[in-house]
Amino acid sequence: MDSNGKKVALITGSTGGIGVALCKVLCEGGYRVVGNCRSAEKGAALQEELTALEHEIDIQLGDVGDFDSVGQMIKSIEEKIGPVDILINNAGVTKDKKFTKMSKDDWDYVINTDLNSVFHCARHVIDGMIERKFGRIVNISSINAQKGQFGQTNYCAAKAGIHGFTKSLALEVARHGVTVNTVSPGYIGTDMVMAVAEDIREKIVAQIPVGRLGSIEEVAEAVSFLVSDKASFITGSNLSVNGGHHMY
Ligand code: CAA
Repeated sequence: MDSNGKKVALITGSTGGIGVALCKVLCEGGYRVVGNCRSAEKGAALQEELTALEHEIDIQLGDVGDFDSVGQMIKSIEEKIGPVDILINNAGVTKDKKFTKMSKDDWDYVINTDLNSVFHCARHVIDGMIERKFGRIVNISSINAQKGQFGQTNYCAAKAGIHGFTKSLALEVARHGVTVNTVSPGYIGTDMVMAVAEDIREKIVAQIPVGRLGSIEEVAEAVSFLVSDKASFITGSNLSVNGGHHMY
């Protein structure tokens, strides 16, 4: 908690589409929000946007793909603001390519940013959460973790790995007041999805029963519920936010 008794929520990858919506929704929910990103410029723009809405947000620069960088970031948050009560592992990247064209660098980049980052961040906050007997960790996965997707062997492997991690950590910390859950967005109107070639994207949208892309707010609201006190008996679960695109 911060010095005003607000729960401290760290959102990684806070300047991406879903990240920005997460910051706004959690500020509105009364949390002390810390947004992580790599670019000082993008961080400053996010801070300006939220300040204009009369929200207080702290920006912490750090590379979630680097264990030591995350360690320094968490230490700095603890010293300046307070211990992290809520961790949302949202940072994610894609390098879509057919597997026969995928290089080792393409593979490593996505596995490191999307999966190793989840270990890095959780590892640095978990002891404190256990000690204080409260914590919320939400890991952002993807519909494609369950479904698979042409051109995404790296991304789907990382995102599927996330949910195995969620379930195992949830088991280990359940008795300490810490919940760990996955949220799996489907196709949301973010830059990442808009980067998919239009003809391919149109075919994907045609498969969504709701008939449209999801919104960043629809994902953020689901996360907001899972981090709330109301969700204290939900752990190890995977909440799909995909407009019925994949049901299981
Ligand atoms: N299913 C079957 N075949 C496909 C295909 C598909 N979805 N996509 C491409 N192909 C076929 C083409 O028909 C073509 O076949 P031929 O060689 O026989 O003509 C061949 O694969 C094309 O291969 P290329 O190596 O030239 O690949 P490409 O550059 O045309 O396309 C790709 C590869 C860019 C990965 C493309 O398949 C693609 O965009 N796939 C979708 C990726 C996607 O959905 N990404 C989601 C990003 S958003 C996100 O990830 C957020 C989230 O969580 C949902």
